Amino acid sequence: MSQISDVRQQGIDYSQRVPNNVNLSNDRVLQRALEQWQPGFLNWWKDTGPVDTSTLQVYLRTAVSVDRDGWANFGYVRMPEYRWGIFLVPQDENRRIHFGDHVGSPAWQDVPGEYRSPLRRIIVTQGDTEPASVEQQKLLGKTCPSLYDLRNLFQVNVEEGRHLWAMVYLLHRHFGRDGREEAEALLQRRSGDPNNPRILTAFNEKTANWLAFYMFTFFTDRDGKFQLAALAESAFDPLARTCRFMLTEEAHHMFVGESGVARVVQRTCEVMRDRNVRDPEQVRAQGVIDLETLQRFVNFHYSVTLDLYGAEVSSNAANFYTAGLKGRYGESKLEDDHRLTDATYTVQEVEGGKIVGKSVPSLPALNARLRDDYIKEIEAGVDRWNRIPAKFGIPFSITLPHAGFHRKIGNFAGHYISPDGQVLSQHAWEAAAPKWLPTDTDHAFVDSLMGRVIEPGKFANWIAAPARGINDQPIEFEYVRFD
Ligand SMILES: [Fe+2]
Ligand SMILES: [Fe+2]
Repeated sequence: MSQISDVRQQGIDYSQRVPNNVNLSNDRVLQRALEQWQPGFLNWWKDTGPVDTSTLQVYLRTAVSVDRDGWANFGYVRMPEYRWGIFLVPQDENRRIHFGDHVGSPAWQDVPGEYRSPLRRIIVTQGDTEPASVEQQKLLGKTCPSLYDLRNLFQVNVEEGRHLWAMVYLLHRHFGRDGREEAEALLQRRSGDPNNPRILTAFNEKTANWLAFYMFTFFTDRDGKFQLAALAESAFDPLARTCRFMLTEEAHHMFVGESGVARVVQRTCEVMRDRNVRDPEQVRAQGVIDLETLQRFVNFHYSVTLDLYGAEVSSNAANFYTAGLKGRYGESKLEDDHRLTDATYTVQEVEGGKIVGKSVPSLPALNARLRDDYIKEIEAGVDRWNRIPAKFGIPFSITLPHAGFHRKIGNFAGHYISPDGQVLSQHAWEAAAPKWLPTDTDHAFVDSLMGRVIEPGKFANWIAAPARGINDQPIEFEYVRFD
């Protein structure tokens, strides 16, 4: 299909330009709102999206419908011409609310007045993360380790842009003037801007190099997955349906992260074996990332991402659940009363210089529960990474720090917890921190490895080639064209 020729038509037909399954061509109000928002979006992309990319042709997948062969259409696209579409999985007319106080009532097609403000807040908070990550990653293309990786970065970027569209659609369609103002504000905030930062802290951190990018897509995009999964259970049906579709794209982002780190580990282990080096300094001298540094990056990205779940005990979390706005991970598959009024859950806290488990009512502990579900998936991914050194006979495994380590939000904030879960004094913790978290020297070293490799089929020295290419293309495929 001729996507590029389509979008080059100048008379803008939004129902064409914005591929959608929300009947855009028949919704005048919505079309007008999007017509006003869209130029601002493109300006935002130009200002803060990936730098110097407007003329590149990138082998991207574009969603043009939600069915099997529609959601991943591959072809060369100039990124500013990417068709950021609006897709919801098809409506199930019989869908009923399956948790909270309204169990059994039909799912809402419109926002109930009483939940307008919390729903708007949920959508804005989710929506804000999408452009934020694009901003965090804007410079990475300059130092890509291969064309394959460059293409994956850009794929993630355009899809985060599409996720912004998905949330803005909900704001425009269901929240009237407030929604339009929020949609505008989503284009105004900037990651890391002291005056107008993104809402959540992890999205104001720098993603300074490709190791950080893979860590981010493994750890932080997976938080995105769990938040979207919880919202995919929502009684507000358009939100549930849009999140379900976003989850299909999110899977690739996490793949980029998991396989990216795995390829770094693979390459380091190859070099350690072939040149018989073990000491981190010797390993670094070979131009690859020592596993100790990798562990410190894991500690950082994991702990910063855990903060995204909010406080372990939160009345908002309870209210969102009871109202039916945000469910648990896999809510519909869980077997209990889906009200949780009498249930309890164990959360950890610091008491008398020790970390202790404490049984609390389940409802306010839902953030902790979602975070614990997330941790299980993270552990499985780390186990897969650890098979690599084992295969090389290298006695090293990556470990996840205790959930209390390096936390700014929740029960552990203000405490000094070591990666193995000891409660320390501030002094002792700070003295040991350079062993646990990436230092300036670590950053400088990793940054020093970042060059730019754009010859098809070639990879930077510090990372192994992937097992296979994208969409069954060979690894040496020209994933990005510079002409
Ligand atoms: Fe996203
Ligand atoms: Fe993502």
